[in-house]
Amino acid sequence: MKRLMAALAVLVALAACGEAPERQRTSAEAETPVLVQPMVYRQPDPDRRRGLGPDGLPDMCAQGKCVALTFDDGPMDHTERLLEILARYNARATFFVVGQMVEEFPQLVQKEVAAGHEIANHSWNHSDLAGLSEEGVTAQIKQTQEAILRHSGYRSVLLRPPYGSSNARVAKVAASFGLPEIIWAVDPLDWRDRNSSLIARRVLSETGPGDVVLLHDIHASTVDAVPKILEGLSAKGYRFVTVSRLFRGMALQPGHQYRERTMTVAR
Ligand code: NI
Repeated sequence: MKRLMAALAVLVALAACGEAPERQRTSAEAETPVLVQPMVYRQPDPDRRRGLGPDGLPDMCAQGKCVALTFDDGPMDHTERLLEILARYNARATFFVVGQMVEEFPQLVQKEVAAGHEIANHSWNHSDLAGLSEEGVTAQIKQTQEAILRHSGYRSVLLRPPYGSSNARVAKVAASFGLPEIIWAVDPLDWRDRNSSLIARRVLSETGPGDVVLLHDIHASTVDAVPKILEGLSAKGYRFVTVSRLFRGMALQPGHQYRERTMTVAR
């Protein structure tokens, strides 16, 4: 019963307002000085221009078609089914989890980690962080980092503020935890329109190389749309990678916002 009440409380909080993206762009995304196998990286700059990653292997996301599907607000009832679908297509994704839900369903987070997905911080109870004090923001981020680590052994390196709502105070606290803010480039409005065909169609028409796509694994209609999304984007040559993999080789600055990896290839 306690578990049910906690799940309901989060659902009520989620229903209160939709994700309202703030569309500001962040400053230049500098490349990391590459840590290297000296043999490969005697001349790191030309290598990076050729799209080589830090391990000396060609970085498919620097030149190829990568997309980062992200699933927010879980884990919850439909997460397990989503994991089965992602496994069937050998797709990796990123789960922006709510700390309270991690406490309720730790085994689902463990399964996400075991399947090679990325786990990231989406606050403790889906509060609008921009409306909280510095102490409040700190508690939301800290408790969630700790819950993820305690239950899965995974140390999250990314934050997505609920509703994409942030400000200088949130950015400062995020930076103090070493977390960049990952927003999104594509929002198919799956939190509002519970129609799987519509969701799949929007993702397929709006997604470009290097995009971060916002989805929610708390809705059955979204999970129902995932096979069509994976098939449609696969047919266009996309690879499905985690957010950290998408931005590999680039320095994500703690406290700064990112929505996509800038790409030069055509859709
Ligand atoms: Ni959310």
